[in-house]
Amino acid sequence: MSTTILNADENGIKTACEHLKSGELVAIPTETVYGLAADALNEKAVAKIFVAKGRPQDNPLIVHIAKKEDVAKLAKLVPQNAKLLMDKFCPGPLTVILPKADNVPDIVTAGLDSVAIRMPSHPVARAIIENSGLMLAAPSANLSGSPSPTTAKHVYNDLSGKIKYVVDGGECSVGLESTVVSVLEGKVHLLRPGAVTVDMLESVVGDITIDDAVLAKLKDTQKAMSPGLKYKHYSPKCKITIVHGDFEKFKQIVEQNAKEHDGVFAMCFDGEEDKLSCQCVTYGAHNDDSEQARRLFDALRKLDESGAKVVFARAPKQDAVGLAVYNRLLRAAGFDVIF
Ligand code: TXA
Ligand code: MG
Repeated sequence: MSTTILNADENGIKTACEHLKSGELVAIPTETVYGLAADALNEKAVAKIFVAKGRPQDNPLIVHIAKKEDVAKLAKLVPQNAKLLMDKFCPGPLTVILPKADNVPDIVTAGLDSVAIRMPSHPVARAIIENSGLMLAAPSANLSGSPSPTTAKHVYNDLSGKIKYVVDGGECSVGLESTVVSVLEGKVHLLRPGAVTVDMLESVVGDITIDDAVLAKLKDTQKAMSPGLKYKHYSPKCKITIVHGDFEKFKQIVEQNAKEHDGVFAMCFDGEEDKLSCQCVTYGAHNDDSEQARRLFDALRKLDESGAKVVFARAPKQDAVGLAVYNRLLRAAGFDVIF
């Protein structure tokens, strides 16, 4: 199958909608990352997502909608806290997990009795959902395990030959996947941090709980609340170690290693590359967590393209959007951290 990148104009959107309605896959832009979409109520179409990505069947998908009324088609009930969060943050980078309605196919939810729902704000994603008249099941449009795609080119590099169309909506403005909260019985539990931060959530619903798996590696015996958290994720081919502490300490570690080995890279903040004698890939300014979010996955892909074998990464701050950046970087590093 040859893969075509469609412009996000009227024709491109029309082609994408027709292809989706015929039960096929299309990669679409969203404000977080690109998604690999299929008609959420068509089991055969959804099954193709798992094949194209090489995704484990027990990892459930998010269903994307364009209007709030559609929540009632997917969820059995909507607790008050979920309503408050959706009123405040949807459309936007928030996914809410609710008790599932009977008509949602098991393949979408991996047999769970809950369903993940998100209303993207990206105009192209919204146009495709509205014009197709479908609700779209869509995971990130990368090969399972590799960093999520934030450009149409990233999708093409991963899925070329496996899907027919990618709609090019430019670079994703958020760059990290949505915040995922489960609101099954009214209590809000954070499963995956994102651009809708803990403070933002708590400003609407009061104290929330944060899943252990956000910052720690699950033990083999622990059950993942969100199945996606148990897989190795966001991983480039190079070996990454996160270095906490100040720049001087980082410089010493990475330069010493670069002296002794080939293929050693620093993954550092903007401006620091001028003060390092080794090869560098930057991922935003030290104080700008939103920019780090936007550039993280591209930086991980760049490291592989540059032939990096061993990478030392500067640790981002862990508050606000930085918590999401750190959560993804930890997984890319397989939890290898120097304090
Ligand atoms: O920003 C995003 O959320 C992007 C764009 C395309 O919308 N999508 C995305 O999907 O990141 P994916 O499949 O890569 O990640 C979805 C995460 C997975 O960790 C999955 O396990 C979890 O959400 N999830 C989905 N349904 C769930 C459910 N019913 N219960 C618990 N976790 C669920
Ligand atoms: Mg993903």
